[in-house]
Amino acid sequence: MNSLKRIIIFGATSAIAEQTARQLVARGASLFCVGRDSSKLDAVVHDLQVRASSEQRVDGKAADLLDVSHHESLLDAAEDFLGGVDAVLIAHGTLPDQKACEASFEQTRKEIDTNATSVISLLTLLANRFERQRSGVIAVVSSVAGDRGRQSNYVYGAAKGMVSIFLQGLRNRLARSNVSVVTIKPGFVDTPMTAGMDKSGPLWAKPEQVAEGIVKAMTKGSGDVYLPWFWYWIMLIIRHIPEFIFKRMSL
Ligand SMILES: NC(=O)c1ccc[n+]([C@@H]2O[C@H](COP(=O)([O-])OP(=O)(O)OC[C@H]3O[C@@H](n4cnc5c(N)ncnc54)[C@H](OP(=O)(O)O)[C@@H]3O)[C@@H](O)[C@H]2O)c1
Repeated sequence: MNSLKRIIIFGATSAIAEQTARQLVARGASLFCVGRDSSKLDAVVHDLQVRASSEQRVDGKAADLLDVSHHESLLDAAEDFLGGVDAVLIAHGTLPDQKACEASFEQTRKEIDTNATSVISLLTLLANRFERQRSGVIAVVSSVAGDRGRQSNYVYGAAKGMVSIFLQGLRNRLARSNVSVVTIKPGFVDTPMTAGMDKSGPLWAKPEQVAEGIVKAMTKGSGDVYLPWFWYWIMLIIRHIPEFIFKRMSL
């Protein structure tokens, strides 16, 4: 079982990350939270400070993670504040307008930079730090969308797929250094990211439910984790539909 006492959360204002942060604080963790919108971040940090005991420390720093030149100094600030780092959760992301991306490579590039390049920048720095320390947990919120390209969201899917494969390789590299690399693959989650979608039906999960799965996976140091669990079976089927049938489907 991994010790989850000093944790950095990137994208801490995300609904899934906020619920995960609450559960981590309830288990005694100290947190350093990074979010883009400073007023939203202040509210999240204040709420977590109220929930924390006097031995726990919670603070945050606002940053647009697209600016990769600040990633190293963010990690330094977090490490100084926490007095070392046991685990990191990377949760920021955007759900692209697929049609807008089809019309503009600039838009596609921005979405890939947000959902993949900025994550890989953080992972490159974190991997080297945790490898030196010979312990730690790196968890990233990827998506089931990264398991197979679909016409309705293949820009998002390509970015998440890149992150999932990168993490697979990183897990393989860092296993010998006692570092756990956890890939979280949620299905449909009821958060601001999916506002405007029809959320009826049994496939939708609440962020609290996904957060519980994230904390469990980080504690155990699991590998690829589908949340809720039934997405493992859905994606197994989707991955195995032959291409000549798949390309005729409206997914
Ligand atoms: N909801 C789903 O159905 C679903 C399914 C699978 C995977 N996921 C993944 O789960 C993660 C969390 O998403 P969510 O559902 O909780 O949605 P959310 O509440 O909309 O959170 C997305 C977060 O990403 C932050 N963000 C976006 N671009 C950023 C940037 N350049 N720098 C820093 N922060 C940035 C946003 O900050 P602002 O508040 O400043 O915009 C927001 O806090 C994402 O990686 C998402 O792709 C979600």
